[in-house]
Amino acid sequence: MSLKGKKIVLGITGSIAAYKAAYLTRALIRKGSEVQVVMTPAGKEFITPVTLSALTGKPVVSEFFTANDGTWHSHVDLGLWADAMIIAPATASTIGKMANGIADNMLITTYLSMKAPVFIAPAMDLDMYAHPSTQRNINTLKSFKNHIIEPATGFLASKLEGKGRMEEPDEIIKQLEIFFSKGDSLSKKKVLITAGPTYEKLDPVRYIGNYSSGKMGFALAEACASRGADVVLITGPVNLSVKHSSIQRINVESADQMYQKVTGIFQDMDVAILCAAVADYKPVVFSKNKIKRKEKEPMLIELTPNPDIAATLGKIKKKGQIIAGFALETDNEEENASGKLKKKNLDFIVLNSMNDSGAGFKTDTNKITILFPDNSKKDFPLKSKTDVANDIVDEIEQLLIQ
Ligand code: CTP
Repeated sequence: MSLKGKKIVLGITGSIAAYKAAYLTRALIRKGSEVQVVMTPAGKEFITPVTLSALTGKPVVSEFFTANDGTWHSHVDLGLWADAMIIAPATASTIGKMANGIADNMLITTYLSMKAPVFIAPAMDLDMYAHPSTQRNINTLKSFKNHIIEPATGFLASKLEGKGRMEEPDEIIKQLEIFFSKGDSLSKKKVLITAGPTYEKLDPVRYIGNYSSGKMGFALAEACASRGADVVLITGPVNLSVKHSSIQRINVESADQMYQKVTGIFQDMDVAILCAAVADYKPVVFSKNKIKRKEKEPMLIELTPNPDIAATLGKIKKKGQIIAGFALETDNEEENASGKLKKKNLDFIVLNSMNDSGAGFKTDTNKITILFPDNSKKDFPLKSKTDVANDIVDEIEQLLIQ
């Protein structure tokens, strides 16, 4: 697999989750990686260096030199040797030192010398994690292009429940594998993604909307960012958060707002993936006061069409720019999708049928067919939205190299 032969520096700090570092070490070794453990003094209080050196077959590094014979441990050499550095668990203290360059132990000096990508898996109590100081330091590390492996939500050592649990070793391995298999194939590319529904206001308390969850668009944003792209994610109202530091999120509510933001930046983009379920119509009149119920009269709302974002981009598209669209259909699926592909001048369209179980809005899975302008098509089986996103981004990559 993709971790075979990779040289990994594993930094371990003083958290109760340090025991998981032994599982992580073993899993990395099983995948064929070479692992060098670097520990902070506090890390050694939670798990012994003997356990880790037995697993890696290498002495653990934690001091600048070995006291008995004066052997110097070069953090600079480790920085050049590694293909990746993982800090798991990363405490609030270590994260703070990394963000501020406080190089008072071997782990931090190694981090500051590191030439390879750095992955950080925070582990701490929920309130420590949520504290503005920790969040500011994490944002600083994101701005250094370090990869934050978000902690999970669950039962914590403090017996409280919340966000702060170090991500499981298997998930950390998965994120590394995706990083190494996809590499930086989209580096220096700018990708615009629209996601979620739009809300079209009727009065101060009501809107016309749809069931789009935004999950597919957010998965696409993460997939592009993990391949090195700079992503601008323009999203309607959704209950999702962005993980990757290279994703700039812009929240909008209505189709008009989405149209303004998208058309404002499209000219600087290499790729646009239009995943949003944009409302086709908006109310002609927005009532400033709440619309009152009338017992006997039917309620009629006059609607007017919204701008078609995809079609607008299709018209102004320059040579080399790629636009991918989506079509969620209930009937005559391929015919309808291929009509939209041509009418909107897209490079391909991703069709999901509402007739396939596990596909469409709200689900964590999707089943797609990709249709191309030359009438060729590719069918894919039911997959997680993350895997579907990677299939779609593979197609984008193919078009970019043509
Ligand atoms: N789209 C868009 N702006 C709109 C409507 C749609 O950018 N106002 C994009 C969607 O994000 C999607 C593609 O166009 O990528 C097709 O969307 P869909 O709603 O299926 O197309 P419509 O042209 O609105 O067709 P329908 O009559 O089936 O709703």
